[in-house]
This record gives sequence, structure tokens and C-alpha cells, in this order.
Amino acid sequence: MSMSDKTGKERIHDTSREPRKQEHPSTYIVQDRENRREMLRLAIQDQMITSGMGGVLPEQPNPTVFQRVLDVACGTGGWAIEAARNYPAMSVAGIDISQQMIEYARGLAADQQVNDRVEFHVMDALRILEFPDRFFDLVNLRFGVSFLRTWDWPKMLSELLRVTRPGGIVRVTDEEIVHPGSSPAISRSFQEEMLQRALYQAGHLFADKTTGLTDHLERLLIQHGCLQVQTKAHALVFRAGTPEWQAYYGDVEHAFQTIRPFLQKWAGSGATREYDAIRQRIQEEMQQPDFHATWNLLTVWGVRPDTIESEQVH
Ligand SMILES: C[S@@+](CC[C@H](N)C(=O)[O-])C[C@H]1O[C@@H](n2cnc3c(N)ncnc32)[C@H](O)[C@@H]1O
Repeated sequence: MSMSDKTGKERIHDTSREPRKQEHPSTYIVQDRENRREMLRLAIQDQMITSGMGGVLPEQPNPTVFQRVLDVACGTGGWAIEAARNYPAMSVAGIDISQQMIEYARGLAADQQVNDRVEFHVMDALRILEFPDRFFDLVNLRFGVSFLRTWDWPKMLSELLRVTRPGGIVRVTDEEIVHPGSSPAISRSFQEEMLQRALYQAGHLFADKTTGLTDHLERLLIQHGCLQVQTKAHALVFRAGTPEWQAYYGDVEHAFQTIRPFLQKWAGSGATREYDAIRQRIQEEMQQPDFHATWNLLTVWGVRPDTIESEQVH
């Protein structure tokens, strides 16, 4: 069911003839879709998380069975590109609401010479996923907490299931909000008192708890019709002086700036009053020789049944 572009090359999705749709306001934690610092942050984070988790599909027994893969909210495209690099028979589509991220991802795919098997499209995942029913073997979503409100999950999961073939896999990875470790400025002042509170107030978390969505993903997948739901936890440790710490430092530094407006809007002025002082404490604590932090992630995946609710005739 592939579509072809003007060159006759097989493409999964053809956006060239579509009228531009009116945009919804952003629900992402960084409002400005063209924020270059956020793009830089995601490029660092994407690579750091994928390698920390042990690759793109570390829990799947035989990833070579996935020939058509979709990455929803793909950011700078690192996961999709890495998937294509690792599995030569795989075609990957990545979608993101940000034009800037998609352009960056396309450039990266060309540099890595996988642009014949990886395509990127600007698309709002909160509307519909503009792909045929039952199309993909595996559909991936990482860090949905950053833009999905709790009430968006039913439609999001129904769309993920719709575009997955029967027997295919819906795979979701999310994070605990607080990274326990040696820095109270990061774990308490920044993550718990600002980020967690803001995410909860903005409707992105079901409960005001450090565990974020990780307590809820399994239930959500089961409730929305996935079969054989399984989970795999990951604990990524960042210790002073290591290359992983370097990346973590960059991620936190950039995040502190790019999500500032979101935190100020939703965490309240009490929590964010000493923003610059907290930032300085974070920098100092991260540079201590005994600095360490643990980022806990959970991957939850399940199988798409033969028929799903949206296909049933009532
Ligand atoms: C935290 S980043 C995660 C990127 C990538 N999944 C990863 O794990 O590295 C979230 C991404 O969601 C994108 N995003 C936000 N709202 C979106 C929407 N409504 N539809 C599609 N993408 C969206 C943002 O532009 C951003 O690239």
C-alpha cells in the first residue's frame, strides 16, 4: 500500500498534494516549535537515551521481522535513523509537529545514507495519523508525556492501533519525572517541585507523583485493546566525568532554558521564583566529582488484535 512520489520512488506517505491544515496550539512543553536550543537538546537526548537503553528495540526478540515501522513524535529523528541503520530490511517513517525537527531529521537521514528507507513528515499526532489502516509492523512512541494530556491517550492509542497491522506491535516508552541521585537541586528543586508539578497542572500526568506515566502505561495499553502487554524497565545512570554525564549535563542545561516558560506558567511563581539561583546550584552539583543521577524509563508493548474497537460495526 505504499504511495509513490514524482520520482517513482516508493514512499510510505505522500504529503505533497495536501492542503495545509490549520494548526492547533501546541501542547508540547516547549511552545516555540522552531526553538533551536530545544532541537539541539533533543539531538543530544535522543542519542543518549537510545544507547543507554541498549539500542532501538532492545526488548524485542527478533526486530528483523519489522519491515514497516513508524516513530510518532520522532523529534530529531535519531531513533528512526538508528533503526534503519541496524535493520537493512526495515523502512521507517517518522512524524513530528515541528517543521524544524523534521528538516533536521531529513538531513541526518541523508548524511547517514538511509534516506531511501527513512522518511520524515510534519504531522500533528493529536489529529489523525495520516497513514492507511493496518500498515505498520511496529509503531513507536517515546516521551509522549511531553505533549499528551491524560485525556489525549484514548485517541492516541486508538490511532496507534489503527495504523498497526493485526499481530503488529504498539510500543511506548516513558520516564519517571524525578532522577534520584546526588543533586537535590536537580531532583527536588527542578524535577519534583517544578517539572512534576507543571506536568501535573497542565494535565500531562494522571497523578502528582515522581513516577510520571510509568505507573499507567501498562493499564492504558490493556484498556485500549492491546494483547500480551509486556514491560521492560531501564535505569540509566549518569556519573561525573563519563561521556554519558557530559550528554546528561547538556540535556539538563538546555532543558532548564527551553522549558522555563512552561514551568513558569504551570508550576506557579513560588516554585520558579529562584530560577536562576537553582540553575547555578544545578551546575555546581553536576560538576561535583561524586555526582550521579539515575533516569528510570519504562517500555511497554503489546500486540494489535485482529479487530479493534474503531473497526467494529455496531
Ligand atoms: C520530548 S521530544 C521526544 C522526541 C523523540 N520521541 C525521542 O524520544 O527522542 C517530543 C517531541 O514531540 C513533538 N511533538 C509535540 N507535540 C506533537 C504533536 N501534537 N504531534 C507530533 N509531534 C509532537 C515535539 O516537537 C518533540 O519533537
